[in-house]
Amino acid sequence: MTASLRSVHLTGWGAYVPSQVLTNADLERMVDTSDEWIVTRTGIRERRIAGPADTTASMAAVAGLRAIATAGLSVHDIDLIIVGTLTPDYPLPSAAVLVKEAMGNSHAAAMDLAAACSGFVYGYGIAHAYLASGLAKHALVIGSETMSRCTDWTDRATCVLFGDGAGAAVLSAADDPGGASGIELNTETAATYSIWIPGGGAARPANEATVAAREHYMRMKGGETFKLAVRKLSSTSLKAVEKAGIELSDIDLVVPHQANVRILEALAKSVHYPMDRVFVNIDRYGNTSAASVPIALAEAVATGRVKPGDRILMSAFGAGGTSGAVVLEWTADPADRLRAEGIGPERVTLMDSGVEPTNPFPPELEWITARPEVPSPDRAPVTVP
Ligand code: ACO
Repeated sequence: MTASLRSVHLTGWGAYVPSQVLTNADLERMVDTSDEWIVTRTGIRERRIAGPADTTASMAAVAGLRAIATAGLSVHDIDLIIVGTLTPDYPLPSAAVLVKEAMGNSHAAAMDLAAACSGFVYGYGIAHAYLASGLAKHALVIGSETMSRCTDWTDRATCVLFGDGAGAAVLSAADDPGGASGIELNTETAATYSIWIPGGGAARPANEATVAAREHYMRMKGGETFKLAVRKLSSTSLKAVEKAGIELSDIDLVVPHQANVRILEALAKSVHYPMDRVFVNIDRYGNTSAASVPIALAEAVATGRVKPGDRILMSAFGAGGTSGAVVLEWTADPADRLRAEGIGPERVTLMDSGVEPTNPFPPELEWITARPEVPSPDRAPVTVP
């Protein structure tokens, strides 16, 4: 970082996950799988599913309002809103526009960022550069996903992996030292079609044939993705640490994208970093794509894993071979998260489109909404505020 740039601190954070839980036992009733297979191959025990009233934008707005409250700011203080997502409410307009309107922000520029699971970390890097160069004072970076709506619930190879939710961070320009000191974003095109949604875009516009072929659902080559994820998470993280001018051993906590606990174990092993300093919550949320890093960050703070002066490494990998890492010095008071108490989905109403509403909830999952909630002794308490 050159001396002429301003420091950019993480001043606010927050997350929102929908209340509906889908367990591995539920999936055993839907596809040919087992709790044992899912837990040993991925570390996932359950994931959250957005309800009919939740969308990517509505969840993003709740997480965003929580992050703004934590930062002690008004929504009108936000100059830039970036939503990292691969599941926007509509192809047009962006989810960020809906979020801005729902939060009641007056003047921010708002845009979506398409980098799949790396969307939040990419957004963080872009917002950092925008603020460090003096273009604005406060940015809101959100990762939000409704993965349940692009998941093929008949494909056991993918449907066990993903979950829904949103997380957010407020970045603020400042003259005192701290904040991010090393950022690395890159893209390796070798994995272009390892994870993709073939139908619905300009190359294969949605029509009866693409829908019949289930091309509007995500497809993945798991093995290829696994190896690339370990390699790119390692190299990108090490590059960010090098840019920060420190050693990996100086990092107090790694907050990685939660795709598979075995990927995180392989990452820790490959860079000789202790696994007990890698934050893991994939057991309760699955892979929430762009939302996973900010949800994990909010939960790490809520569970006392982060304190002022700590050096945090956020690291992500996603479809298209995107990867990104941010090294930052934590300067906020973790207790500030209490300022967001009481902010929930009832505070958010998305602008009416004027079009007849449809029920977006996956029909294959309708049955879970009707059953009584069974308390599970294995279910850890939810700590996301
Ligand atoms: N239940 C039971 N068996 C299954 C399941 C399931 N849910 N899914 C696959 N299997 C079977 C396969 O059919 C295969 O059977 P076979 O040997 O008879 O052919 C066997 O299990 C092994 O399958 P693999 O795909 O080799 O299993 P692997 O150990 O690689 O685990 C997994 C699969 C979990 C998907 C892993 O490859 C992975 O995590 N990949 C990375 C995914 C990822 O990181 N995504 C991040 C980006 S996502 C984004 O950007 C949106």
